[in-house]
Amino acid sequence: MTIESEVNRLRARLMSKSGDDTAPAAAVARRRVELSPEHYDIAQFPEMREYANMRWYYDNQGLAWNMYREHLGVASAEVEIEGRKMLNFSSFNYLDLSGDPRVKEAAKRAIDIYGTSTGSGRIVRGEIPLFGEFERELAELLGVEAAVMGVSGWGMNAGVIGYLARGQDLILYDELVHNSMLTGAKISGARRIAFPHNDCDALERLLVTHRGSYERALILTEGVFSMDGDIPDVPRLIDIKRRHRALLMVDEAHSIGVIGPRGLGVVDHFGLDSRDIDIHFSTLSKSFAAIGGYVAGSKALVTMLRHYAPGVGLYIAAPNPANAAAALAALRIMRAEPQRARAVVAIADHFRERAQAAGLDIGPSHGSGVVPVMLPDSETALWMSARLFDNGVFAFPMIFPVVPRDGARLRFFLSMSHTREQVDRAIDLLVQLLASAPRPKGMI
Ligand SMILES: Cc1ncc(COP(=O)(O)O)c(C=O)c1O
Repeated sequence: MTIESEVNRLRARLMSKSGDDTAPAAAVARRRVELSPEHYDIAQFPEMREYANMRWYYDNQGLAWNMYREHLGVASAEVEIEGRKMLNFSSFNYLDLSGDPRVKEAAKRAIDIYGTSTGSGRIVRGEIPLFGEFERELAELLGVEAAVMGVSGWGMNAGVIGYLARGQDLILYDELVHNSMLTGAKISGARRIAFPHNDCDALERLLVTHRGSYERALILTEGVFSMDGDIPDVPRLIDIKRRHRALLMVDEAHSIGVIGPRGLGVVDHFGLDSRDIDIHFSTLSKSFAAIGGYVAGSKALVTMLRHYAPGVGLYIAAPNPANAAAALAALRIMRAEPQRARAVVAIADHFRERAQAAGLDIGPSHGSGVVPVMLPDSETALWMSARLFDNGVFAFPMIFPVVPRDGARLRFFLSMSHTREQVDRAIDLLVQLLASAPRPKGMI
């Protein structure tokens, strides 16, 4: 393909607004559809039936509805919910920086200087020095050439993957990667194949079979898996991607700031050269105490994303100044105070040890701040979460479709501000409640 035709194709991809660009799919003979309310009445869509079923279960069991519950105060180890002080295991504020006076002060100062919005996309006139400062300091800390920050973790992950891979490319992803990665893979139009969780042999076999039929090949994994709290074998993934000339992307949402002696994620944890991971991604909503995302890697990657990828610098407004300032302040604290990361893993290890000693199933969780407590079914997960809430502990249930139907669990996020006493209280309560949980009736 000549450079000119590649540029024309890129332009068409960025600019195309009209015409039927789903023509190949539309060309497949389609059956005639008998219209019924579930095709035009949103209240009849299958999700709404699932939701009604869940609400009915809560009412039937006399449980208080626990979704979209408002809290007051900073989401730390304790939060105030409905006038009660609750022990909180459902925030990603790993390093406890969301309420840190230095982070709050930086955000306030940014509002004083820049207002609450830059009023434009970065590429046009939305650029302010805070973005560049964050990106340069992050790239230096990670040991890569460049970084770019964006407005939303989910949106940036989906947008960047959706942009990098094209119809003629291959995406191989760990079956447990986050929805934002999956969505990016879907919108890219590339061939997508999941490999079994952390199964490098299976990944290798897929590459042997399929690599030769595609142009770019992208391997997607996470630094710490958000549902299971385990860490993949990144050195092995690097070896595989090298031999098959693929690109490796690691979502470090739950690993950056937490794992590794300096808390700098998988590179720090395994003692790797950062340049061996092609695309470093993380959200800013966890250890960075803000909201948004970043991609880091080579200068070429970052230059391309900044100038061409929709949802990074194009077709999207700039990050908000207060947010960028908070992320920058958190980054500086993360660098200066690595003991925070070690405290997260230490308290999570205490949780894991106590839970296992009490006979609870914590799945494959190790070395991270995420600990699931596996439960037999969705009903038990909903019931346990509601009863914990009644007893002053907030731990959110994870049920289908967020996890497989047989993977229901409560998920605990540990932060450096949790104490051993708080963890012990939660474990004792879990054990006590689990012993009295009603047998599931197959309602959900
Ligand atoms: C692994 C992972 N990736 C991406 C995201 C998306 O980030 P955000 O929620 O900050 O948009 C999340 C969020 O929970 C996540 O857990």
